Amino acid sequence: MKIALFGPPGAGKGTQSKLISEKFSIPSISMGDLLRAEVRKGTALGKEAKALMDEGQLVPDSVVIDMLRDRLQGSDCDGGFILDGFPRAISQANVLDEFVKLDAVINLSVDDRFLIQRITDRRMCPCGVAYHLVFNPPIRPGVCDDCGEKLYQRDDDTEETVLKRLKVYSEQTKPVLEFYRKRGVLRDIDGNKSIACIRHALIEILDSLPQ
Ligand code: AP5
Repeated sequence: MKIALFGPPGAGKGTQSKLISEKFSIPSISMGDLLRAEVRKGTALGKEAKALMDEGQLVPDSVVIDMLRDRLQGSDCDGGFILDGFPRAISQANVLDEFVKLDAVINLSVDDRFLIQRITDRRMCPCGVAYHLVFNPPIRPGVCDDCGEKLYQRDDDTEETVLKRLKVYSEQTKPVLEFYRKRGVLRDIDGNKSIACIRHALIEILDSLPQ
């Protein structure tokens, strides 16, 4: 099962891809998480990426495509994977198509008015799990349910940066939907619904894919 979760910033891609990864025992590969790991390591690539991420801009294709190719070499990807945050431009979709044929691209569509609150009240764990102060709070405030680490707020989760990220999404990323619609692999889910409802809809789609 080779799938990609698609949608604007805050649509719930990371939340759902982690739930689905557990359910189907395939890795969830988040390009944002891979880039943030480079930032934490303080590499030259991480420094370049952080400046762009903090501005809400896309990191160059040459960087993200190499990172994805490397990650997909992992033996844990042999049985399939879920991409979260890739591809994010037509140029990335074209390159991906040369080495991976996706079985499904699932678009989580969410009204803009919900996205800002979802993002500005998000709290992250370094292990990658996302919480929300209102919609998905941790059991103990400020602490990850899974690993006990302290939660933090992403530097790019300010309202000002979210507005820039939404603009980049609409100009550079949204056109990718048409690319996959033409290939007949695009599926839509109403991402305005609850986390549990979306998970249910996602599982129905994945169960219906040819094995
Ligand atoms: P990335 O980390 O991928 O950010 P994003 O795409 O902007 O998406 P988010 O992580 O903000 O949102 P999400 O859809 O995962 O939502 P989540 O599940 O957390 O990328 C960051 C940056 O890296 C980019 O801006 C770019 O600079 C760079 N980058 C990444 N990929 C790249 C690429 N391919 N090319 C170039 N550059 C790239 O949910 C959000 C919040 O809402 C959480 O608090 C959650 O608890 C809550 N929530 C989730 N679902 C629901 C629901 N149904 N109802 C209510 N609340 C919900």
